[in-house]
Amino acid sequence: MDNKIKELLSQLTLEEKAGLCSGKDFWRTKPVDRLGIPSIMVSDGPSGLRTQFDNGVDENDSRPAVSFPSGCATASSFDRNLLRHLGEILGEEANNYKVSTVLGPAINIKRSPLCGRNFEYLSEDPYVSGELGAAYINGVQSKNAGTSVKHFAANNQETNRFSVSETVDERTLREIYLPGFETCVKKAAPTTIMCSYNAINGELSSQNKWLLKDVLRDEWGFKGLVMSDWGAVYDRVKGIKADLSLEMPYSGGHTDNDIVQAVKAGTLSMEELDEAVSHVLEMVMNYVEHKQDGVFDMDKDHADSAKIAEESCVLLKNDNAALPIKAPADKVLFVGTFAENPRYGGGGSSKIKCYKMTSAVDAAKEAGLSVKYVKGYNDDFETTTSALTDEAVAAARNADTVVVFAGLPESFESEGADRTTLDMPQVQNELIEKLTAVNKNVVVVLHNGAPVAMPWVDKVAAILECYLGGENIGTAQINLLFGKANPSGKLAETFPLRLEDTPCYLTYPGNGRTCIYSEGIFVGYRWYDSRKMPVLFPFGHGLSYTTFEYSNLKVSKPAFKDTDGVEVSITIKNTGSVEGKEVVQLYVSDKTGVEVRPEKELKGFDKVSLKPGESKKVTFKLDRRSFAYWNTDTGDWYAPSGKYIISVGASSRDIRATAEVDVTSSSKKAFTITPQTTMGDMLRNREMSALIKDDFEKACYAVIGDMTDEEFEAKFPFTKGAMIEMIKSNPFRSNRGRNGVTMEDILNQVEKYNQALDK
Ligand code: BGC
Repeated sequence: MDNKIKELLSQLTLEEKAGLCSGKDFWRTKPVDRLGIPSIMVSDGPSGLRTQFDNGVDENDSRPAVSFPSGCATASSFDRNLLRHLGEILGEEANNYKVSTVLGPAINIKRSPLCGRNFEYLSEDPYVSGELGAAYINGVQSKNAGTSVKHFAANNQETNRFSVSETVDERTLREIYLPGFETCVKKAAPTTIMCSYNAINGELSSQNKWLLKDVLRDEWGFKGLVMSDWGAVYDRVKGIKADLSLEMPYSGGHTDNDIVQAVKAGTLSMEELDEAVSHVLEMVMNYVEHKQDGVFDMDKDHADSAKIAEESCVLLKNDNAALPIKAPADKVLFVGTFAENPRYGGGGSSKIKCYKMTSAVDAAKEAGLSVKYVKGYNDDFETTTSALTDEAVAAARNADTVVVFAGLPESFESEGADRTTLDMPQVQNELIEKLTAVNKNVVVVLHNGAPVAMPWVDKVAAILECYLGGENIGTAQINLLFGKANPSGKLAETFPLRLEDTPCYLTYPGNGRTCIYSEGIFVGYRWYDSRKMPVLFPFGHGLSYTTFEYSNLKVSKPAFKDTDGVEVSITIKNTGSVEGKEVVQLYVSDKTGVEVRPEKELKGFDKVSLKPGESKKVTFKLDRRSFAYWNTDTGDWYAPSGKYIISVGASSRDIRATAEVDVTSSSKKAFTITPQTTMGDMLRNREMSALIKDDFEKACYAVIGDMTDEEFEAKFPFTKGAMIEMIKSNPFRSNRGRNGVTMEDILNQVEKYNQALDK
């Protein structure tokens, strides 16, 4: 601990220390004036700043700021540099507004498309969430502003988010819900982490020692401070012991007093309290010592917001190259209120008071494009009149291309509540159907924070998914629709055909008190691909105005030790006629058969920019973790020895090249052998099978001997094959009593096996 902090700790009174462990108000920490400890301010996050006015009167009234595309959109860019750039801009803005910490990124896994807050989150895949989350953090922190990665952990639903207990097995936590945070901690060292509201397996995150101390701090090496989500604290003293340093917002003095009383009663030690206070002091001192002046050039950031959106929109469908629009602008019809009034961000804590809005209608005007615009439906996005519909249909008859701006109104998805359906407002679906009946060139432009059902998918020519694209989405839309920019986003989540197909359909959002994650590790494409289910649009999917060819997949070595890892390269060529960017994805499939694994898992991605005719080599480095699963027996990551398939492609369902590799595990022991273990358990594992093979052969010989199949079947009521399977599935303990074998003999044998594996 640094000397300055030690000195302050020695000077602070018990009451002052306790006070530092909760907020002064909604957005600030408490000062201790007599020791020169100032109050510092935090601000939402994640896709723009929601900074309170200096007068501090209305905690929800914020200063105008630039709204950038939400997490659902920026994740679709699959572009680490872009997320870093977004972080840098936010860091500058934070410096300008004297904000110590930007409350973001929000990286919870999209377990169900119904989660009301999916718009803020990045992906259904923890590799994507971790990589892009870390890039964002590195960007913000490069400007010396702090970040708060949220919500740690398993905040995957809004229904009863303050109290629900998520029932999740450890392997699922380790493989799906925690690794995004782990990557952020290890690759970007966030200054703070925000704990979630919910409980995990019965313990609230705000007082979960396993989560905050054992895993986050001790195992991953987190050095920063854990703050609570706003109002997440229940037992403050337990929270301090669990490593929750800062409770936000203010607690009215109640929980400060709980801390004081606990220290006086001896149930909380001064060392435990000092640990928490030292993290708060570190956060404050860091800000004071390193704060920078930032320039908040709103016009520049507004322009950047459009560029970020351009990289994030996903071209889902484009039949007969309907896009980019070739027709003269005056033969193009825009339909739908979203064209005039786009949904730029989601409702709740991430809602930005926009500096300025540029809609598609505005941007078309600015670009001098004389497109015709009709509303099509009412300003509430949910109702219409026959006059509005008739006007749209009549105009569509005379247009070359009809662009319908559709999507979800805020009443359909927001922080604090989950969706109940994948459907868009009925009037919008009906309008699209009617327009396709009179015009074969209908393009749908979507504004939504999560997947929607598309009953009209086969009838429209093209679909451009814009998600919630920030305050300058209109400029991005015009550039993409008219071909000034080429779409390059890919879906960071699967669009299912039906709600009933989703992995947690039967258990989401639970009974209110608990929610059982019965689908386990099979989340998103891990579920759909393992089950070979048809989907509306697969994970990783996204089209371009050009085409890409994948060739020359190479692995640096066909066989290697897990700890050595391997390098994989592939050449990508732009085979079309315009410049474009491709998101190249690498998936790994475990073919060893040792453990239940998803059909494939994303372990690498890169975005390459290519001029027409240009080729580039993309290289991926895979390490032990790329092949490993969480082994609950050993409490560690484990990549079993054997065959794996490496697949490289343009989406999880568009694999262009594969290679088989052989991995040798650095650990011989997949699990501890007990009297309950079977020979079959050991035979499935390369190292363990080497140990048991002879014994197994002997056991088989003892029963089968040299009998032919006919002789065997005359003696036993089943086949040799079935007998061998039975020998495999006999636990060691069942040998007791056979040929005088005692339990002690069995325990000795088991111990010998374990020792051989430990060597
Ligand atoms: C949200 C957090 C947010 C905080 C402050 C909470 O309700 O869950 O994400 O940072 O409020 O606005």
